[in-house]
Amino acid sequence: MTTILLAEDEESIRDLCSTILTKEGYNVISFSSGNEAIENLNGSDFDLLLTDLRMPGIDGLSLYRILKETHEDMATVVFTGHGTINTILEALKLGIEGFIMKPFTATELLSTIESAIKKNRLLRENIRLKVLLPLLEINEKLLAELDIKDMFDRTASIIAKETRAERVSFMLVQGDRMNTVFAMGIPDEYAGIKRRVGEGIAGWVANTGRSLLLNGSHNIDFIDAEMKKNNIASGISVPLKIKDNVIGVLNISRVRDTVPFNYSDLELLSIIAGQLAVSMENLRLYTALGQSYFKTVEALATAIETKDVYTRGHSARVAHYASIIAIEMGLSKQEVEDIKIAGLLHDVGKIGIAENILLKRGELSEEEYTAMKNHPNYATKILEPVGFSKTVLSAVRHHHEWFNGTGYPDGLKGRAIPIEARILCIADTIEAMTSDRPYRDMQDMNDVIQELKRGSGRQFDPDVAAEVIRLYESGHLLSVNISTHEIAPKLS
Ligand SMILES: [Fe+2]
Ligand SMILES: [Fe+2]
Repeated sequence: MTTILLAEDEESIRDLCSTILTKEGYNVISFSSGNEAIENLNGSDFDLLLTDLRMPGIDGLSLYRILKETHEDMATVVFTGHGTINTILEALKLGIEGFIMKPFTATELLSTIESAIKKNRLLRENIRLKVLLPLLEINEKLLAELDIKDMFDRTASIIAKETRAERVSFMLVQGDRMNTVFAMGIPDEYAGIKRRVGEGIAGWVANTGRSLLLNGSHNIDFIDAEMKKNNIASGISVPLKIKDNVIGVLNISRVRDTVPFNYSDLELLSIIAGQLAVSMENLRLYTALGQSYFKTVEALATAIETKDVYTRGHSARVAHYASIIAIEMGLSKQEVEDIKIAGLLHDVGKIGIAENILLKRGELSEEEYTAMKNHPNYATKILEPVGFSKTVLSAVRHHHEWFNGTGYPDGLKGRAIPIEARILCIADTIEAMTSDRPYRDMQDMNDVIQELKRGSGRQFDPDVAAEVIRLYESGHLLSVNISTHEIAPKLS
C-alpha cells in the first residue's frame, strides 16, 4: 500500500485530503505542521510527501529538504495556493514531482498524486539506468584492460562523461600514506598531491571507508577549508575497496558553481569505484600469475638447452629475432607476446629426443632425422596441458613447416601455416646460421640474406623474408649484438 505523509496546517483541507486519499486506498499519516511531522515521524516509512508550502514553523520546501535526507526515494506533491512564482520555481528546481493549486477537486488531487508517483518511479529507474549503462561499458573495458594507467584513463573519461565532473583523481593508499596516481583536469600544483591517511577529505574517506558528498557548506572545518583552498564548488569522494580493505580513493569535483552533484552521482561513482577496485585486484593477480607463468616458460626453455650446451641461448635469441620481425610486420601487442613465448619454447620438444641424436655433431642418418622431426609433436604434448594459448601452441608446432608444403609435422602450405610459425621459422634460421657451432663455421648475415633469397617461397614465406631483408638492409636487425649470445627477450 502506498503511504502518504500529509503536512497541512488548514484542518479542513487536511481532513478533505485524508478522506479522499484513504477512500482511494492510500495509507495517510497526517500532521498539522512541518515540525510536528519531523518530531512524530519516528522513522516510519512513506512513499509520498504531500505538503503545503506555507505553514507556521518549518515551511514546505524546508520540510522537503529535511525529509529528502532520510527518504531519498520519496515523491513529493505541494499545494501552491499561496506560493509565489519564486517558490514554485525553486520547488521545480528541487525536483518536486507535482503541484496542486488550491482549491482543487478530488479528481485533480488523485491524478496529481498518481502522476507524481509515476514520475518518481520513472526517475528512479532512469537513475538506475544511468548507473547501469556506463557500467556495462566500463565492465567490458576494464576487464580487458591490462595496464593500470589505461585503466585509470578509461575510468576517468567515463566518470567525466557521466557525471560532468571537471576534475577526476585517483589516490592509492600505501601504508599510512596516499599518493595521487592519476589526475584529470587538476591544476599542476595539486596533481601530484600526497597525504596521510586520515588527513583532509580523501584521508577521511580512506580512514573511515565511507563516501562524502560535498555540496555547499558543511560546517566541518577540514572539509570547508579544503573545498575553499582547492576551489571546489561540489565534489564526491568514494573509497576504492577490496573486501573491507580501502586501497584508494576516487575523487571528483566541479569548480564552477553550477549544478551540484547529487545522490545519483554518488551512487554511480560508488559502483564505478567498486568495479575499478575489482579490476585493479584482477590486474594485480594477473600480473602475479603472469610472472610465475613466464618463470615456467623460462625454466622449460632452459631445460632444453641444458642437454645441449652448444645451443645455449638459442631459444632466447630466436624469440628476440622473432619479436623484432613481428613488431616490424605490424602484429598486435598480444601476437608479439605470443611469438616471444613461442620462440622461447619452440624446441622444447627436443627434451624427448635421444641424446645420441640430439648431440650428434655430424650429419644425421635418415632414421635419426625422422626421430628428430618428432620434436614439434613432443612440444605439443608438453605444452598443451600447461595451458598455453592456441597461438603459442600452433606457432611452436609449425615452426618447421615449409612455405611450399614440404615441411613437418603436418605439411601445411603457404598461409595455412600460422604467421607466427612462418616468422619463427626464419628467426630460427637466422639464429642457427649466425651462432657459433663447433661442427661448422659461424656464418654472417650476408650468408643468411642469400639463404633467405634462395629459400623465399620455398622454405620461407616471401613476405616475411622480404621484411627481414629490408630490416637487415636498414640496419635494424643487427642493432642487437648477436655475437655475445646473451640476449634474452624482455619478459615483462
Ligand atoms: Fe626446431
Ligand atoms: Fe630452433
